[in-house]
Parts: sequence; C-alpha cells; structure tokens
Amino acid sequence: MSAQRKDDHVRLAMEQQQARSGHNQFDEVSFVHHALAGIDRPQVSLATSFAGLTWRAPLYINAMTGGSAKTGVINRDLAVAARETGVAIASGSMHAYFKDPSCAGTFAVLRRENPDGFVMANVNATASVDNARRAIDLLRADALQIHLNTAQETPMPEGDRSFGSWGPQIERIAAAVCVPVIVKEVGNGLSRQTVLALRELGVRVADLSGRGGTDFARIENGRRELADYAFLHGWGQSTAACLLDAQDVGLPVLASGGVRDPLDVARALALGARAVGVSGGFLATLLDGGVPALVARISAWLEQLAALQTMLGARTPADLTRCDLLIHGSLRSFCADRSIDTRRLAQRSGSVAALHEMTGSTR
Ligand code: FNR
Repeated sequence: MSAQRKDDHVRLAMEQQQARSGHNQFDEVSFVHHALAGIDRPQVSLATSFAGLTWRAPLYINAMTGGSAKTGVINRDLAVAARETGVAIASGSMHAYFKDPSCAGTFAVLRRENPDGFVMANVNATASVDNARRAIDLLRADALQIHLNTAQETPMPEGDRSFGSWGPQIERIAAAVCVPVIVKEVGNGLSRQTVLALRELGVRVADLSGRGGTDFARIENGRRELADYAFLHGWGQSTAACLLDAQDVGLPVLASGGVRDPLDVARALALGARAVGVSGGFLATLLDGGVPALVARISAWLEQLAALQTMLGARTPADLTRCDLLIHGSLRSFCADRSIDTRRLAQRSGSVAALHEMTGSTR
C-alpha cells in the first residue's frame, strides 16, 4: 500500500505540473527598481546561514520520495543532482521504512550518492523518538524535517484523522535528537501563529511550504474513488503570504511551495526566507530530461540568482531583505487584514546611509 501510494504521488504530482496555470501570489511581489543599486558580480556570494548551519547556496531540493523501487531510482538521481550542484536535499517521508525496513536502500541512496552533501531526513509528526533517530541514522542526516499535512491526511482515503498529539510529539523529538529540527508544511502553508507555536516547541527552523505549487489535497482527492473532496483543492495560504505573515517571528524560515524561477527565489529571500526549496518543478525536470537536465536547471538558477543579486545590490541572499518591495493585489488585502505593514517593505532601503552605499558616495 505504502509503495503504491508513493508511486501515485509522483504520477499525480506530475499531472499537476503539466496542468499548472502559471500564476501564483509571487506575481504580486515586485522589487522597486533602483538603477544605481548594482554592484560587481565578484562581490556576490550565494552562501546563507541560519540555525548554526551554513549552505553554499540558498536553494534545496525539498522532500519528495522513497519507499518503492521506482522512487528509489528517483532518489538516486535527485541525490546526484544535489551532489553536482552543491544544493541541500531532503528525503521523502520515511514512514515507509519504519513499516518495512527492506525499503531502506531507497532512502539511504540519498547519502550513498552524496556523501558530503547536506541531507535532511523526513518523518511525520506521529513518529516515535526512536524512529526519528533511526531516520537520522540511516541517512547520517544533517537535519530532521517533520512534516505537517492535515489538509493532505483529511482527503487521503487511508489518512489519519487524529492530529491532537502532533505538538507534544514534535516537542519530544526536538528535545531528543542531535540535529536541528525543521518543521514543514507540504503545500498549504504555516501561519504566523503556527510558527510561533513551533518556536515554543523547540523547533529550530520552519519551512513555510505554502500554496501555489503541488496541491496535496488535490492529489489525495485524485486517489479517492468518488473524488468527493474537491472543495479542499487550493486550501491554505500561498508561500508569499506565509512569508509576509512570518515577518520578525523570531525563528529562521525557509520558503517552498510554487517556486517557479530564480525571480521567485529572490522574492522569497527578500521576504525573509533563508533558503528556498523546490519539489514538483525539479521532479518534472528530472523525469523529462534526466539528471543532466536537472543539473543544468539548478546551475542556471544559481547563476541567475547571483545575477539578480548583482543588479539589486545584494552581496548576500540576506542583503535582499533590505531591498524595497511592492505588494500588490490580493496579497495586499491579505497584509491589510493581518496588520502587516506593506509601506515599511516598500521603503526599507531608504535611509541616507543606504543611499550613500548604493551610489558609492562618500559625502
Ligand atoms: C512531496 N512533498 C512531501 N513533503 C514531505 O514533507 N514529505 C513527503 O513525503 C513529501 N512527498 C512529496 C511527494 C511529491 C511527489 C511531491 C511533489 C512533493 C511536499 C514537498 O516537500 C513540498 O512541500 C510541496 O510539494 C510544495 O513544493 P512544490 O512542489 O510546489 O515545489
């Protein structure tokens, strides 16, 4: 059942990639153009640091798969692409391994192919402390992701219907394991209140993983005989909305969900993400063109992100948080209702010191 589900997820997620409309709320975030802001390309670094970790680039291949023969091959190829481009990578949920240890190799391949890379294990919020440790050990993982997915479980034919123990269990795991714990959504977004709660539970990083890309309510509904949960399609907040909601929340945040190109990466970083994850879009590239296509795509994104930073005057990804941003349309209404100050975002580079820095003036 578990192996079949993994294969279904890949198939249905790829159908979504083909049907994607192209629009998402990242389109409602734009940079104010300052024509004298540019710096020299050699001054730009892509390195990012958070929660005591440093990554060479603010991009990662987010959690997807493992647990069946087919997905083991996918994990092998994703691991090679991560190794060749130097980006971090996460496994899919390792629940299948807890139930059937004979599929260990379909996850362990992530480390075998990428011995020196940054690898994250992934479990659900009902995993026992022992199983969380087994997942970390199997991958010699550098961090542990715990996923929250109520809007996936609800329409999932064989899904959980009991979510009340998740908070206390996350707290137990976070206190017991020896690597940083990252709690992530799976495409419905983490609200500000959720991120604040995670901070209290001892979680080190939140991956907001919002709406706009892979839609797991739709995937699970597609696995139901009657497909009678269509009303849950598109549930949750977009990634851009989540980033705005989580301003100054006191916990490092990562962004994923519907990231389409290097400009979306720059937008997410400018909205405060320390790094940006992609799942469905990178999987589609891999399945269409193999490892060379995925390596080429990730390499191009990194070079284009550096080009954007050069144009915007951001020596590091973190410097993008000093760029002026305009928030438009429905995202602007979201900000008004959530008391998020969009004027501050639009004028944050505006100090005299910043202007002098921008123009190179010494006066
Ligand atoms: C996922 N995702 C996911 N997340 C997770 O925490 N554990 C998992 O096992 C999986 N499985 C999975 C399978 C497939 C095929 C896809 C495409 C995605 C969710 C993923 O990590 C991410 O949060 C969402 O997909 C949103 O990002 P994209 O796809 O819009 O870039």
